[in-house]
Amino acid sequence: MKINIKENNKNVQEFNLLYDSVGWGAYDEKISQIALDNTFYSVSVYDEDKIIGYGRLIGDTICYIYIQDIMVKPEYQSQKIGTLIMNKLLEKIKKLKKDNKSLRVYLGASKGKEKFYEKFGFIRRIDANLGDGMILK
Ligand SMILES: CC(C)(COP(=O)(O)OP(=O)(O)OC[C@H]1O[C@@H](n2cnc3c(N)ncnc32)[C@H](O)[C@@H]1OP(=O)(O)O)[C@@H](O)C(=O)NCCC(=O)NCCS
Repeated sequence: MKINIKENNKNVQEFNLLYDSVGWGAYDEKISQIALDNTFYSVSVYDEDKIIGYGRLIGDTICYIYIQDIMVKPEYQSQKIGTLIMNKLLEKIKKLKKDNKSLRVYLGASKGKEKFYEKFGFIRRIDANLGDGMILK
């Protein structure tokens, strides 16, 4: 495996390929393109020139940030690619925190993926004495 990393790549075909590979379904390319254009930071991971992982940050860059769409192609999972992506995103967040120490970083874990995020210091809202995260039905 020869790992390459690209920041802020907005290749919609690569994004959709990964999205589909982790079982989240295929997204309309026009919708994905708008989503990627409005993403302020992302990390794409390649094995040579083949996309194998992705993660992005969305938000206002100073008060609230959301970690979104952490995806590793199934055949590359459990080889620390997800860790590599998270560490790159957290490095960027550390830089942003210099401008606002109170910057809040959120994510919505998929069911069963909480333990992965705990490794990077994330805790459940209930354990921070906060209310549930909510989603519009
Ligand atoms: C979740 C995901 C991003 C993890 O990436 P990965 O490259 O397989 O994970 P890593 O190899 O970096 O694992 C890092 C650590 O997290 C742990 N981990 C990974 N997935 C886990 C899971 N589902 N449950 C519990 N622990 C998990 C690993 O065991 C490893 O632990 P260790 O450091 O003690 O060895 C990847 O499995 C994936 O893309 N899944 C499908 C899409 C998805 O659900 N994304 C998350 C959306 S919220």
